[in-house]
Amino acid sequence: MRYAIIGCGSRHRMFRDALCGTYADRHELVALCDSNPSRLALSAAEAGRPVATWPASGFAQMIADTRPDTVIVATPDHTHAEYVAAALEAGCDVICEKPLATNADELRRILAAQARTGRQVTVTFNYRYSPARTQLREIIAAGTIGRVTAVDFRWHLDRVHGADYFRRWHRQKENSGGLLVHKASHHFDLLNWWLDARPSQVTAASSRAFYTPETAVGLGLAGHGTRCADCRLVEDCDFALVMDDDPNLRRLYREAEAEDGYNRDLCVFDDEIGIEDTFQAQIRFDNGATANYTLYAYAPWEGLEVTFIGTKGELTHRHVEVHGIFGGTRPPGEEEAMTTTLHLAGEPMRAVRIPEGSGDHGGADPLMLEDLFGDGHDDAHGRASDHRAGMWAILTGIAADASALSGGAAVDPASLVPAVHSPGLAMG
Ligand SMILES: NC(=O)c1ccc[n+]([C@@H]2O[C@H](COP(=O)([O-])OP(=O)(O)OC[C@H]3O[C@@H](n4cnc5c(N)ncnc54)[C@H](O)[C@@H]3O)[C@@H](O)[C@H]2O)c1
Repeated sequence: MRYAIIGCGSRHRMFRDALCGTYADRHELVALCDSNPSRLALSAAEAGRPVATWPASGFAQMIADTRPDTVIVATPDHTHAEYVAAALEAGCDVICEKPLATNADELRRILAAQARTGRQVTVTFNYRYSPARTQLREIIAAGTIGRVTAVDFRWHLDRVHGADYFRRWHRQKENSGGLLVHKASHHFDLLNWWLDARPSQVTAASSRAFYTPETAVGLGLAGHGTRCADCRLVEDCDFALVMDDDPNLRRLYREAEAEDGYNRDLCVFDDEIGIEDTFQAQIRFDNGATANYTLYAYAPWEGLEVTFIGTKGELTHRHVEVHGIFGGTRPPGEEEAMTTTLHLAGEPMRAVRIPEGSGDHGGADPLMLEDLFGDGHDDAHGRASDHRAGMWAILTGIAADASALSGGAAVDPASLVPAVHSPGLAMG
C-alpha cells in the first residue's frame, strides 16, 4: 500500500517511522506534505529513505502525482476537515489523527465526503489499544458487573502535560475545539466504546481557572513575556519551555518558526488564551447508563480514575501516567502505576491482573500501528475506529462545550448533525 502524510510535526513521526521501518517491507511512504518547509525537510531527512516532499499548497497535486492509497492527516485539528474531505474526494482512504474535526460544520463536510465516496476513514484512537483499557471493555462486555448503570470518570492532566495545551495552537478554540473536543474526544470515545453505547444527552460546566494572568501574579510572575524565549522570568517559572535546551524541540519548532510564526513556547498565563482548563460533564447514554466526567489541566499528578457501577458490582481502574517531555517541571519520584479492582456484591474486593504493554501511551501505540499497518485485521476487541466512532467522540465534546457556554442547558449530540440518524451512521 502507498501512503502520504500531511502534517510533519511531532505526532506524524510515529506513522512515518512505522512506514519507513517496521512496515517498510509491505508499505511505501510516497510523500510528505507540510506548510512549513523546515519541518518538511527535517521529516524527509529523518525518514531514512527517499520520500518526496510537497508544500501544503500542492496537496491535490501530490495526490495526483504520487497516487497514495491512504492519506494520513496529522495537521492541527481545525485543518483536518479540509484535508480529509479532499483526500476522500481524490479517491484515497484516510487515517486521521483525533479529533476528527473541531466543530459540527467541519464534521458535516467530512461525513458528506465519506458518504459520497464510500472511502474508508480511520480515526486513530490509540487510547483504546492500551491493554488495561481493552481489558476493561472485555470485563464489561462479559457481563461480570452486570448491566452498567453509571460511570464516574476523572482525567487528571498534570502541570507539565496539561500546561502544554496552553502554549500553542490548542490554546484557541477555533484551532482545537477546546479541550472538551481536542483532549476529551479520547475519553468520550473510551466511554462510548467501553459501554458500547452512544451519548444521547450532555450537560456541562467549564471554566478557565488556572492558566490565567491572575495565577501568574500569584506565582510572582507579574511582568512575564509573551513567550518563554524572550521572557526575563524564565528562570523563575516552573512552566517555562526552553526549546533551545532540547535538541528535538529546537530542530522541530524553534529553527522553523521564522517561516510561519508558529511559536511553540507562548506563555501559559496569557490573557488571550481562549480555552478552558476545568470541565465537568454529565452524559446520558442511549442504553440508559449515565456518566460523570471531570477533566482538569493543572493536576498534581497525571492519569485517570474510572469506576463502572453495575447491577452486580463495581469495576475500578486507576492509572498514574508519567510520560512525555513538554517543558515545565515534574516533581521527582513519580512512577507509572496501574490498578484494576473488581468488587462484586457479596464478595471481597479483588485485584485484577492487568496484561502488560510496552511502548508509547502505555503500550497502545505499537498495537494500534500493528492494527493499521500489520497483516492481520482480526482484532476481536473492535478497536479500529471509523468516521462514526470519530463523530460520536467529538459530538459529545461539542455538545458539552455548547452546554457549558449556555450555562448548563441539556444538549442532544445528535441534534448537532441531524444526518447522524441515518442508518449508515449508527455507531461504528
Ligand atoms: N493520538 C494522540 O495521542 C495524539 C498525540 C499528539 C497529537 N495528536 C494529534 O495529531 C495532530 C498533530 O499534532 P502535533 O502535536 O503533531 O502538532 P504539531 O504542531 O507538532 O504539528 C503540526 C504540523 O502541521 C503543520 N501544519 C499546520 N497547518 C498546516 C496546514 N494548513 N497544512 C499543512 N500542514 C500544516 C505544521 O507545520 C506542523 O508541522 C493533531 O490533530 C493532534 O490532535 C494526537
